[in-house]
Order: sequence, then C-alpha cells, then structure tokens
Amino acid sequence: MKKDNYIRIFDTTLRDGEQSPGASMFIDDKIKIAKALDIMGVDIIEAGFPVASKGDFESIQLVSKEVKNSIVCALARAKKKDIEIAGSSISKAKKSRIHTFIATSKLHMKYKLKLNEKQVLDHIKSSVKLANKYTNDVEWSCEDASRSNRDFLYQCIELAINSGAKTINIPDTVGYSIPFEFAELIKDIKNNVSNIDKSIISVHCHNDLGLAVSNSIFAISSGARQVECTINGLGERAGNASMEEIVMALKTRNDLLPFSTGIETKMITKTSKLVSKITGFEVQPNKAIVGANAFAHESGIHQDGMLKHSNTYEIMTPDSVGLKETKLVLGKHSGKHAFTVKLQELGYKINKKNIDKIFNSFKELADRKKDLYEEDIVALVEDEIIRVNNHIKFISLDVHCGSTGIQNAILEIEIDGYIKKTSSNGQGPVDAVFNCINKLVPNKAKLSLYQVNAITKGTDAQAEVTVKLEQDDKSFVGKGADLDTLVASAKAYLHSLNKIYIKSESKLSKSVLNG
Ligand code: KIV
Ligand code: ZN
Repeated sequence: MKKDNYIRIFDTTLRDGEQSPGASMFIDDKIKIAKALDIMGVDIIEAGFPVASKGDFESIQLVSKEVKNSIVCALARAKKKDIEIAGSSISKAKKSRIHTFIATSKLHMKYKLKLNEKQVLDHIKSSVKLANKYTNDVEWSCEDASRSNRDFLYQCIELAINSGAKTINIPDTVGYSIPFEFAELIKDIKNNVSNIDKSIISVHCHNDLGLAVSNSIFAISSGARQVECTINGLGERAGNASMEEIVMALKTRNDLLPFSTGIETKMITKTSKLVSKITGFEVQPNKAIVGANAFAHESGIHQDGMLKHSNTYEIMTPDSVGLKETKLVLGKHSGKHAFTVKLQELGYKINKKNIDKIFNSFKELADRKKDLYEEDIVALVEDEIIRVNNHIKFISLDVHCGSTGIQNAILEIEIDGYIKKTSSNGQGPVDAVFNCINKLVPNKAKLSLYQVNAITKGTDAQAEVTVKLEQDDKSFVGKGADLDTLVASAKAYLHSLNKIYIKSESKLSKSVLNG
C-alpha cells in the first residue's frame, strides 16, 4: 500500500516522447531506455501505442519481457481493435496496464471524433470494460480535459471509474492551462465526482506555454498522485513535463512539497544522456537539472561564493543527480589492465577479443591526444560498439579545405567487404565529404540534422557529430566521434546510412551494388 504522499511517476518517453517530430526510436534503443527507467525506479513505463505499427507492437512486447519492476503500459484509443492489440502487447509483462483515452472537449468531439456526448459516454463504458478483460490495472484519460465542459467531464470520469478505471488521467493536451487554474480543476474534480476516491488522479501536462512542470506540481498540491512526464521533457510539440524537473522540485523543496517518489535521482544524468543520444535531441545548455550549465558557475562572484560555501549558489548537489566531475583518467602510458578496470568502472562488459581491439584504438587516440578523460573513453567504446555490425565502414579520408581553392574530399570506405573510393568537391569540407558518401552509397535519405559537439574542453577535444537522416517518415540518428571533426562527420553519416541499410536491407544493397 503506497503512502498518501507518494507520487507515482508515469514515464511516457517511449510513447508521447517518441511522438516528437524526428524522435522515432529503434526497438533496441527503446529496450535500453526502458531498462534505464526500470532501474531508476519509474512506477509505470508507457511503452508505446501498439496499434500504430508492427514495430511499436513488437517493441512493447519486448519491453514487457525485459522490465523487472515497473508496470508496463500500452496506449489504446476507445476502439475494440486498439484495446485488443494493447492487451496482447503487454500480456508477458510482470505488471501490466492499459491506458485508454477519448477526447471530451466539445471541439474534439465535434470536429475530430464526430461524436455527440451520449456516444462518447458509450465509448468510455465499453472501452474501459473491454480493457479490464486484459488487465485489472486500467487507466482512462479524458483528452483535452482542461478545455472540456466541467459537468460533462465529471460525468465521464464517474462513468470511467464505475466501468473499472483505477487511474483517471487529466491531460492538458494542448498546454493551455495556467497553474492556479489547473489546480482548481483537480480540486473541482475531487469535489464533484462522487466516486473519485476509488481512483488515483493523474495529470499529463504539455509544455506549449512552458508551464507543464508548474501545472503538474500545482496539480500534486491539489491531490493528484500520479504525474505523466518524460526524460528531458521530450514530447509532442513543445514537449511534456520533464521528469527530472518534477522529481528534483519535489526533493529540493520538500519543505513546501511534502511528497516522495521512487526515483533514484542519481540515475537522472545518465538517463538524460541516453535519451539525448538515441533521439539526437540535444539538451539545451541552460535546461534545468540536465543542461550542461545547470551546475556550472561562471561569474567571479558566484565562484567566490561557491568556494566559501557551496549552498551560496547551489540548491541541490551535482552528485544528487549523478553528475560527476570530469576526471583525467588515463594516458598514453596506461596499460591494458588499467584500461580494462576503467571500462568495468564505467559499466561496460566487453569480451577479451573486443577489449584488444578497443585497447588498440585507445592507444592510437592517446598518441594523438595528451589528456584522456572518462568522456573520451566512453566516446571511444560507443564508437566501436555501434560499428561492430556495420555493413558500411569508414576507412580513410583526405580533405582539402580552407579559405582559398576548391573544397575537396577523397573518401575510402568498405561496403560488405568491398573497398570503394571516390573524390568529390563541395560547398565546404563537410559538404564535400557527404557528397563522396552519396556517390558511394546512393540513397534517398534527406539530411535533417548535422550537429557538432566537443566531448571535453580544449582545442584538442574529440568532436562528437550527430547526423539525422529522414527516409520513409522515419528518422535515423547516427553518431561519430574523432579528434578530426570531418572524420567524425563521415562516421556519423555512415552510421545513419547503416541504420537505414539494416532497416531496408534489400532496397539499399541493390542500390549500393549498382553505385
Ligand atoms: O496529450 C494527451 O492528451 C495524450 C493522451 C493520450 C493522454 O497524450
Ligand atoms: Zn500527450
């Protein structure tokens, strides 16, 4: 039995988060995120919308098998087929939930659903009852609740609870609410729905006015005991309420917000980085809790204060969100044993054969870069891991660039064991490199993101490049790291193409062979 001040964290990174344009994820990426959420103590993981595609259905099935502690939830509209498919997708989960929803605002009912109030009520009854045949943990949402007619909303909620919904979710679907108004809505629901004490009130706030976290916190103060949120605030349009912000607000201001969650906050930074890496959505540097500057103190006055007492300018410690200081770790004289121990400390389990390969790459990097930090080692290992099963491999690159003359690149790659080489000009060196790749690997993909980050500080830092390609309404995020930004760019582009290649092997292999 949960205490009355316990706030259930319902994470929807894999469902609403994935609905962010360009944030689609592969099944193995979703499993990685689900496992991280499970370990960090998320109460409910919304794993997807299974009726949307075969891939979504399969990924929810796999998440259901892998997750050990969290409840695995599948989303369904108030339709028979949706609910049947949702029920089947979560059948192997240790603890499962179906989340079914229908819009209750006049606007949505008239123009989107083309249903009148009586018809919506009928759908609520039948959908919640049907969902209960698959699991006794059914959540019901009144989409666009914050713009719905109050009396009709109360009627719908009462009916959903009578039909078997254990959680009632109140979404601010279009991020329209203002905190005190949303708090009133929750209070009014508590005071006007006769059977509300038989359910948990949940809230699901979007961030169109930048108020998603505030609205969620105000709702908790009014009696909501579940919040729906995402890592890094990912989600439709301006996103959902950010999980790390809600959790840390409750923890840091426990004096005013006497609530608890099951989240291991030291997992926050790692999970945020994982989601950012998988989706290719960089976290803005000044983002609360997980932005690169969230714990950085730049001005002299602040630095002075921090040295005298960290509480002067720090309301929570970096350690509490799992942010560790950048440490100088290894150098060119470090041996294989020290390197292997470091990999274990960083959480990698790598077999002997691959350790040798990665150690050689480490030595090459150590020859080129004097100081190696943990971030360098992580980039190196991740770079090796993502390339293991690649069909298209980077071999070498020569570039002519600068302020005079033609920008030209000569690129050599290996495609399924065949060496291919070409040269190309471009409007700048990156363009020349990408033109070479497109000549060697003809493809229909469109480049939607090219981004460069320095992994550590200093001009000798490794560059980490993110490339996002779009093809057939899917996004393919590729990463590449190297001391040379252009080599990292080539690796990132090839990584995205490899993902496309794996997804649609026959189509690409034909064009590659003809190319
Ligand atoms: O924003 C919304 O209303 C939703 C529902 C499906 C809960 O995502
Ligand atoms: Zn939503």
